[in-house]
Amino acid sequence: MKDLKYYFNKALKGHFALGALNFSNMESLQAIASACKKLKSPMIISVSESALKYMGDDMTMALANAVKKDCKGLFLHLDHGKSFDVCKKAINLGFDSVMIDGSALPFEENVALTKKVCTFAHKKGVLVEGELGQLKGIEDNVSSQEHHFTDPQKAKIFVEKTGVDSLAVAIGTSHGAYKYSGKQTLRFDILSEIEKVLPACPLVLHGASCVDKKIVAHVNKYGGKIENAQGVSEELLQEAITKHHIVKINSDTDLRLAMTAGVREVLMENPKEFDPRKYIGKGRDLVQKVVEEKIKNFLHSENKL
Ligand code: G3H
Ligand code: 13P
Ligand code: ZN
Repeated sequence: MKDLKYYFNKALKGHFALGALNFSNMESLQAIASACKKLKSPMIISVSESALKYMGDDMTMALANAVKKDCKGLFLHLDHGKSFDVCKKAINLGFDSVMIDGSALPFEENVALTKKVCTFAHKKGVLVEGELGQLKGIEDNVSSQEHHFTDPQKAKIFVEKTGVDSLAVAIGTSHGAYKYSGKQTLRFDILSEIEKVLPACPLVLHGASCVDKKIVAHVNKYGGKIENAQGVSEELLQEAITKHHIVKINSDTDLRLAMTAGVREVLMENPKEFDPRKYIGKGRDLVQKVVEEKIKNFLHSENKL
């Protein structure tokens, strides 16, 4: 059976990546699923703890199951689970994989928590992503990221002790729309060191939205005020995927921006419009376009089903 593990291994060997795209409503999920179906791309559909709360357990499962039934190769994933209980809940609901994010904890506590989740999850055939190192960005008022990069030696111990199926690494990205104030960079030197000690471990890049200037301009043209936003370039992501072991690329911000651009455009251009299908529908179209571009431009996951 082609489960998520199968795709991680295939991606590692073939140097492509699965997107892990967040959704928090029906239309953004439909947009992701339509793009994947059209381009025959596997994809991870991610739900954060707060998105799960926003949609509700039953609604989340109903939406996910509906698209999974219609489109092969979609996997439901809990993003940034912060406790054993939330991971357990997601596993019992039927998620395909969970992330336990103990990255803010001291190393040994992160190991213990992650191991506990792995033991529970693996009995049910659910994959677990752990995180070591911390993503800090300018939005957190941290001027230096140096102390938060993943330590390769600790990463090896972490993976061996916990039994995680994939590892999120901190190599220079951060969450949100304001990732860099200057040059966009990723610490490929650290990534290479991690790969040397963990050659078979699928690696995950969080905070990997590109924050396309055209989409930001689109939002701002229709009344938005998003200034000095900057994401990771497609070229850097391309390198992380084709020359390294990054097989999961997390993005939420890019989809939020696209949805907002569409909604703003329709409402600003048509002040008399009040049918949500018109403005959310336009947002949905733009999200689908963004997902298709990711699949083609750097995930290279087209026709990989
Ligand atoms: O990595 C975090 C995601 O962007 C989720 O954010 O908790 O606002 O849904 P959220
Ligand atoms: P962005 O904020 O770059 O979209 O990253 C999202 C993410 O890492 C979700 O886990
Ligand atoms: Zn993240």
